[in-house]
Amino acid sequence: MTRPAPAGASSLEPLRAAATSAMQQAYAPYSDFRVGAALGGRDGRIFAGCNVENSAYPAGICAERSALAAAIAGGLREFETLVIVTEAEEATPPCGMCRQALVEFAPRLAVVSYTTHGAEAQWSLATLLPHPFTPAALAHHQ
Ligand code: THU
Repeated sequence: MTRPAPAGASSLEPLRAAATSAMQQAYAPYSDFRVGAALGGRDGRIFAGCNVENSAYPAGICAERSALAAAIAGGLREFETLVIVTEAEEATPPCGMCRQALVEFAPRLAVVSYTTHGAEAQWSLATLLPHPFTPAALAHHQ
């Protein structure tokens, strides 16, 4: 069974700070729903992202995939923890498209979500996306 990595509050603090600061940079004039996300690797490196909306709505990108792109561009491909921060009342998980994007690199990812109102929740990505499409499916096809 895949469990979230043990996520002590102190080890999460730098990720939470990075996600909060990214959230403050979010461009979300259409939804007014600002999201920040930060991915952390074993070596302590952190890559953050925010949602970037667009007047052509589908062209917008979520904070989680924005953080993922930053991590890949920065050379980090193995993440242990994703921290999400929003200003919602309840802690929110990543959307379905982001779950799929993340599972490609981190099937054992721990996802921790905070709100600026003090709510928090934690899941494993495996719980959020129990039957992922993975690169193995394409390998079987060849
Ligand atoms: N959004 C994220 O950035 N992450 C999520 O997990 C859910 C939704 C963004 C997309 C859009 O800019 C806004 O939140 C409202 O859906």
